[in-house]
Amino acid sequence: MLEQIEFTTKSILEKTNQFKPQFGIILGTGLGGLVNEIKTDYAIPYKDIPNFPVSTVEGHSGQLIFGELGGKKVMAMQGRFHFYEGYNMQQVTFPVRVMKALGINTLIVSNASGGMNPSFEVGEIMIINDHINLFPTNPLIGKNINELGPRFPDMSEAYKKSYVELGKKIAKENNIKVSEGVYAGLSGPCFETPAEYRYIWRIGADVVGMSTVPEVIVAKHGGMDCFGISIVTDLGVEGVVQNVSHEEVQHIAKQQEPKMTLIVKEFVRLCND
Ligand code: HPA
Repeated sequence: MLEQIEFTTKSILEKTNQFKPQFGIILGTGLGGLVNEIKTDYAIPYKDIPNFPVSTVEGHSGQLIFGELGGKKVMAMQGRFHFYEGYNMQQVTFPVRVMKALGINTLIVSNASGGMNPSFEVGEIMIINDHINLFPTNPLIGKNINELGPRFPDMSEAYKKSYVELGKKIAKENNIKVSEGVYAGLSGPCFETPAEYRYIWRIGADVVGMSTVPEVIVAKHGGMDCFGISIVTDLGVEGVVQNVSHEEVQHIAKQQEPKMTLIVKEFVRLCND
């Protein structure tokens, strides 16, 4: 894996004339519009990046964007790799390894989720303050590569507290209602049954989705700090669980996109890490 990371990193540096980003952003559902805010210097389709998988799911086109956002140099993943697509955990998290190798120390992740917390509404924006890994596996399983991080990485602050505070401050100053809470990540691709929502709520999660957790685990393994933000696109609240479709998830996420975009842009501008 080390050789692959090195090879991919070298190839990207050549294609971008040695562009060194400071922030890595994974543009999940609802943050696609952020690309329009990035003053793009380079865009590389995943198919032109050695060792990169190609993303398959509808609504996620695949390329890496290098440019400027909020006065800082960023690298953004337009389209991420999901475990449910059939990629293994190493493939899902490979881009995060490459981010680290490019010198990035702050990872920003976004996603869409189902909300179990009864105080949440459809369209709620939640800043992630912790997660629960309900995937059937973990990207760090296997022989540890000491050059990449420790065997037993600390996860006591998976989502950096000062980042959560900064996110809340930005939201407040811009009159955007946000809450904070715990994201449970599981494999999908089924949405949850009412009993599963009830279970996930009872074990301590506020929202549930099919991404983010693997990437954050790998980021923490590599010593990076993470900021996560989620759009609640449907509710898994006891008694009000309704039919949910991918189209609806996309529709609600799209509605909230300007707010998500503003928060992330301001976050990058104001974060001095
Ligand atoms: N469950 C899992 N993932 C999701 C959901 C959900 O209810 N909504 C959007 N992504």
